[in-house]
Amino acid sequence: MIYWLTYVVILCFCNDSPLLLYLRARLAMTSTPSFIIIAIDGGAASGKSSTSKILAERFNLLHVDTGSFYRHITHELLRRGVLPTNLAALTLALTELNFTTQLQGRSAQLMIGGQPADHEIRGQNVNEHVSHYAAIPAVRQKLLGYQRGQVAVAQQHGFRGLVMEGRDIGSVIFPAADYRFFLHADPIERAKRRAREGQLDSIAERDRLDSSRKASPLVSPTGAIAIDSTFLTLEQVVEKMAAMIEKKLS
Ligand code: C5P
Repeated sequence: MIYWLTYVVILCFCNDSPLLLYLRARLAMTSTPSFIIIAIDGGAASGKSSTSKILAERFNLLHVDTGSFYRHITHELLRRGVLPTNLAALTLALTELNFTTQLQGRSAQLMIGGQPADHEIRGQNVNEHVSHYAAIPAVRQKLLGYQRGQVAVAQQHGFRGLVMEGRDIGSVIFPAADYRFFLHADPIERAKRRAREGQLDSIAERDRLDSSRKASPLVSPTGAIAIDSTFLTLEQVVEKMAAMIEKKLS
């Protein structure tokens, strides 16, 4: 009897014990409202980041900008001199990249080898190269599990859900997300937005590469809610989305 009691106590208090994990999961399911996943896809400068950040704030969600992940990997591979054309070197380099997550406010930051991304991931060099690396299946595969793992990160930090933005979120990463939005806007308007941000970025070329690649291309996922933001303000886009989310939540 004493033996069994000791065994149960060890099972309960050992941090990674299956019993403790199970009990924690049951508790989370009964004590919190259901976890929600919002997927937002769209081309470059379509307004994904601004809307995602506001939705994250409004609904207590973890904000996950997957474009920043592709940018950070691109920056790291360029720093190591690994070209997208050298598949053998690239595959090896990918095995050496160790991913962890750090929160910055509500946003999940990808750390590579314990290092956060720096401002250069938004620079011209990364803008020019990122779509070439993102088209490589091994790169996408490396990020797949990490991106899905953000659900656990959000749960561990007490978020109500997550809002993830990118190119293949509603089609590949979370095809069963509670809400899937696809943002688009006239290319001239999008180019103006980038220029206002002071960025040199050939968004048309990135969109062309992202839409035409074989691996997880940029598409409006079947069944997603498409929103054209060309003639809408940021507030109007957010209100449209929030109204749909609130309707479903209430
Ligand atoms: O969103 P952002 O413009 O920062 O993304 C940079 C690039 O990362 C995209 O042009 C695309 O090549 C790649 N990307 C991707 N899949 C995602 C997110 C970004 O291929 N889910």
